[in-house]
Amino acid sequence: MSVVVAAWPEYAEDNIPTVPCLSADGHLLVLSVAASRIRYGLSLTFVTVYPTDIKTVLPKHISSHPLSSNQQNLWCIFSDGSVTPVYTYDLKYGNDRVSLLDCPLSQFANDQLWKLNQTIRVYLASTTTKDRKIPILKAFVKVPVVFITSSNSSQESFTLCTSPLHNKAKYLVQWIEFHRLVGFSKFIIYNTTDTDNYLSTIINTYTQKYPGLVDVVQWDFSALGLVDVLPTRYFQVEALHDCFVRYGDQSEWLGMIDLDEYIVPLHPYETIVDYVHEHLGRRILESINLRSQYFCSKNSSSYTAEENNTNRLTIERFTFRAHNRHKSGREKYLYRPRFVQYLSIHHQIIGLSNEQPSENHITLAHYVSISEQRTMPGYDFNETVKDSGIRNRFANRVKDAIAALTRKH
Ligand SMILES: *[C@@H]1O[C@H](CO)[C@@H](O)[C@H](O)[C@H]1NC(C)=O
Ligand SMILES: *[C@@H]1O[C@H](CO)[C@@H](O)[C@H](O)[C@H]1NC(C)=O
Ligand SMILES: *[C@@H]1O[C@H](CO)[C@@H](O)[C@H](O)[C@H]1NC(C)=O
Ligand SMILES: *[C@@H]1O[C@H](CO)[C@@H](O)[C@H](O)[C@H]1NC(C)=O
Ligand SMILES: *[C@@H]1O[C@H](CO)[C@@H](O)[C@H](O)[C@H]1NC(C)=O
Ligand SMILES: *[C@@H]1O[C@H](CO)[C@@H](O)[C@H](O)[C@H]1NC(C)=O
Repeated sequence: MSVVVAAWPEYAEDNIPTVPCLSADGHLLVLSVAASRIRYGLSLTFVTVYPTDIKTVLPKHISSHPLSSNQQNLWCIFSDGSVTPVYTYDLKYGNDRVSLLDCPLSQFANDQLWKLNQTIRVYLASTTTKDRKIPILKAFVKVPVVFITSSNSSQESFTLCTSPLHNKAKYLVQWIEFHRLVGFSKFIIYNTTDTDNYLSTIINTYTQKYPGLVDVVQWDFSALGLVDVLPTRYFQVEALHDCFVRYGDQSEWLGMIDLDEYIVPLHPYETIVDYVHEHLGRRILESINLRSQYFCSKNSSSYTAEENNTNRLTIERFTFRAHNRHKSGREKYLYRPRFVQYLSIHHQIIGLSNEQPSENHITLAHYVSISEQRTMPGYDFNETVKDSGIRNRFANRVKDAIAALTRKH
């Protein structure tokens, strides 16, 4: 239910900051905004930096006055003057922190987005200090164009997002082609930095060959001078939520993993789709829990020439793995956006049941050393196991798929 209280002219110029930005009153640092039809019915979600992290993340000379969301009274105001209240959520669990603001979409906003395919402008207004609705930031929102080529209605759509990429694009094509083979039909690249335009080249190739298969979400906040609390994460937890809100509508299943992680269905399953159909059917579940199986070198202090050779596929380079799966704490998930509201990278905190697939059915092969030699907790080098299974099953098909991608008709 929305009430009309005020209206701004559709194309008015103003000095109100636009997302991504620090709000005009310095209370909120907003990274992104996206609309969803399945999240509480219909809503707009602002992904913000956790209040107590704002000062750490911003450059020192920018003054801010972080306020936790329950200290604020916020509203969304749409271009026709419709207003809806903002609901807030803060999550803190170890290193995973995220703050979300959700406001229901007014009928006007809903029609603009999904009926008319328009970009909408929304103001976030605060009544914290004054008895008036003062706009503190604005955002422009549109919904992704629905992926047409995969519209095989008998098949569920599986979406895979990358963690924010910082010049890692050289590992991207093989990762996409592998995951296409196992049933994913949409890929979202979170692009942070691409120094030599390598990613742009790849995206151009995909756009020509498979339009709609790969989307890029710009996830670069360097213009604002932002540095994540854990600098190597590039606002990964926030990106995960962004992907989930932005693409949840289109995806029956959705996950965010790194380019050194491969979701592998094991014999007799050829695809994740087969596994899900056979084991889960239409049961209401929140997620599938994927535990890492670390792939590394037999001996961490003597990598072979094959393991060092980054021109080979990742799944070819490493054929020794830890004896056991990593127990818990570092798992990733394939989520069902329809049934989930909040996420975290490695922990499932709230919600419905999740499914722990049998070790014999699906694995998360985690090639921890693709770009630097490193070891992982629980990886005992005296207990490595030779395992060429993934290479033998997939390497040639991935190579064929890469060749087909770059072939000119
Ligand atoms: C929606 O708008 C975009 C451009 O804003 C356009 O490329 C696309 O074709 C439109 N989709 C539909 C279904 O009208
Ligand atoms: C749709 O999916 C089914 C099941 O995987 C497959 O057999 C069929 O060929 C697909 N149809 C099209 C048009 O892609
Ligand atoms: C990725 O981000 C960089 C840095 O912001 C930008 O220069 C580049 O154009 C982006 N690439 C793509 C494919 O969007
Ligand atoms: C690992 O390689 C190093 C260097 O070649 C060697 O000294 C060491 O003995 C090896 N360790 C094992 C457990 O094989
Ligand atoms: C593999 O790379 C490591 C680190 O750069 C190096 O120490 C090692 O000698 C290399 N192995 C071979 C066989 O070249
Ligand atoms: C592997 O090494 C650890 C510690 O170095 C030792 O406790 C364990 O018994 C070894 N396992 C095997 C199978 O040798």
